[in-house]
Amino acid sequence: MKIAIILGTRPEIIKMAPIIREVESQQRGYFILHTGQHYSYNLDRVFFEQLRLPQARYNLEVGSGSHGEQTAKILIGVEKVLQQENPDVVLVEGDTNSVLAGALAAVKLHIKVGHVEAGLRSYDRNMPEEINRTLADHCSDFLFAPTEKAKAILLGEGIPEERIFVTGNTIVDAVYQDLEIAKESANPINTTALKPGGYFLATIHRPENVDNRTRFASILEGLDLVASQFGVPMVYPIHPRSRKMMTKFGLQPKNLTLIEPVDFLDFLQLESSARLILTDSGGVQEEACILGIPCVTLRDNTERPETVEVGSNILAGALPDRIVKCVKLMLGRQDNWRNPFGDGKAGRRIVHILEEKI
Ligand code: UD1
Ligand code: UDP
Repeated sequence: MKIAIILGTRPEIIKMAPIIREVESQQRGYFILHTGQHYSYNLDRVFFEQLRLPQARYNLEVGSGSHGEQTAKILIGVEKVLQQENPDVVLVEGDTNSVLAGALAAVKLHIKVGHVEAGLRSYDRNMPEEINRTLADHCSDFLFAPTEKAKAILLGEGIPEERIFVTGNTIVDAVYQDLEIAKESANPINTTALKPGGYFLATIHRPENVDNRTRFASILEGLDLVASQFGVPMVYPIHPRSRKMMTKFGLQPKNLTLIEPVDFLDFLQLESSARLILTDSGGVQEEACILGIPCVTLRDNTERPETVEVGSNILAGALPDRIVKCVKLMLGRQDNWRNPFGDGKAGRRIVHILEEKI
């Protein structure tokens, strides 16, 4: 069996890592195709180095661009590589433009597609990710759903049951595997004035939040208010999209500590020692839930409703007063919720299923 692992952005590298480790340890035939959607060192290379992942055999170096341009460039590049390599199956993970283009290129060449993290829906078609994940699911032969809820969504869309496998989410594997390594490495908070349990951690990068001046300003005002009212430092490792938009809009939050994006081991430690996390990231909502840290999601919807149901997460939207209220509420919450995303063996299960079925 020959597997093509297609990835292109920070979360895909992190969530594919457990699968890559699994195929490496079993010495399965595979190769990595990097689309080059993310290319800055701290969104890309750092994860390969730190997580000790093998180099991608191909890097399409598509870089940034409009949706049409970026997706089209990936489609053209992936098709060429797949024609040359002729793998038995292509694996994609998540909901980025790299995922949609990778899945589409493969299905048109009659190569089987496996979608890791299938069946997530926010039902918000303004989000590019919603379009990408829905179309990728409908191109796929193997739909690796993280939860029963995700499976039910896929069944509801008419996808045959025999294509759907509930495996858990590989983010649990990643957190379990990498938190152990992180504990042995230097804790980033030791080099700062931050104290364990004495700071809030924020990430905001979704276009619907940061590409709109009014909404971004409102969220930053909410975060400023939270930091000042609770008298707690707020650290924000800022995604380049958000940095670019903050500069463009001339926004200058007063009470936030902005830092460059950090590597995964540092970020895991920043998360697990935080008093509370505020985010619009998909992966960070999951990690907060797994690590037992309360989360306030700066969005009006989520494709991770399991986090809200178990009590680890709340949807705050973008209004400052509501953000403050949600923080208050979540600070009072017991952190004894159940992790709904699996047992940390999703990567192994996925490779096993492919071995059986191909
Ligand atoms: C992409 C995904 C999003 C995912 C996020 C993970 C899509 C549609 N969006 O969003 O789902 O949550 O990755 O972080 O696929 N930039 C850099 N360096 C880089 C990459 C980007 O500076 O390595 C800057 C560029 O100014 C670029 C902007 O960030 O224009 C946005 O990059 P892009 O890949 O279009 O989308 P993300 O916001 O990163
Ligand atoms: N992350 C990281 N460094 C940071 C911020 C986030 O390593 O400075 C990790 C985080 O642990 C999570 C992933 O990046 O696993 C989430 O990526 P992002 O928020 O960019 O994308 P999303 O999950 O929203 O698609």
